Order: sequence, then structure tokens, then C-alpha cells
Amino acid sequence: MTPKERITGALNGADRDATGKALQDTLVELVDLHLSAKQAHWNVVGRFFRDVHLQLDELVTTARDYADSVAERSAALGVPPDGRSGTVAGESNLPKLDAGWHADRDVVEYIVRCLETTIHRLRARIDETDKTDQVTQDLLIALAAKLEESHWMWQAQLADS
Ligand SMILES: [Fe+2]
Repeated sequence: MTPKERITGALNGADRDATGKALQDTLVELVDLHLSAKQAHWNVVGRFFRDVHLQLDELVTTARDYADSVAERSAALGVPPDGRSGTVAGESNLPKLDAGWHADRDVVEYIVRCLETTIHRLRARIDETDKTDQVTQDLLIALAAKLEESHWMWQAQLADS
């Protein structure tokens, strides 16, 4: 038995491959999202430092928790998750944050862009997994609801009163 065959899940063939890819691509984005949000948490400056600093850690927690759930769903299907730093750096399509201090409003705009990218790609995967694995789709839907709530809360900070 090869290691791949030791862990078997409910799916086989093309459905397992497509679902595994949807989970892997989501994992890469969530790891990048929590690293990027943590980097912003450390480097934000400005009048609204404290609000943004604390809100960023809430996003870090969401991204980390769901990264774990997504990776373990993949493992449960017999597809080994790859959350290595090199994989994330090479494959994530999230906007990049330059090194150094960042003004609070710039950080909020950056996070809104990151969430828009992630949500857009996640919704495509929700459509794909409708055909291949509805259990995985359910996890991705719950993640999308959480990220879309977060997207609203970050956008609300940019609205002029
Ligand atoms: Fe902190």
C-alpha cells in the first residue's frame, strides 16, 4: 500500500481531485491571509491604530481556524494538504503588502482588496464543489459567510459618515 492509499475518503477519481484542488487553493489563500493580516497588525500606524490593530487579529483568528478546517477536510478525503511557506509564497494570488509602516486607512483598503479576491475565488469553488462534494461545499459556504461578514465590517470603516 502506498501512503496515498492508506487514507481513503468518500470520493474517488475526478471528484476527489477537483475537490482536493479547491481545498488546496483555499488553504493557500487562508494561510497567506492570516500571515498578511498579522504583518499589517504589527505595522499599522495612525489615528485609528488600536481599532485596526485589534480587528486585524480577529481576521487572523478566522483565517487560521478555517485554514485548519480546510486542511483537515482535505486530509479526510485522502488528499495531503500543503501549507508549506514556499507553496503559499509561490501560489497565492492575494495582493502583497510592502514592508514597513502602513497608514490605518491604507491597511483597511488593503484588507478589503484581499477579502474581495478571496471571496471571488471562493464563490467559484462553491460552484465547482456543488458537483463534486457537497460536504466540502458546506465548509466553503460557511467560510464565505464569515469572510463576507468581515468584508462588510472592513468596508464600513471606509464609508464617509
Ligand atoms: Fe498582537
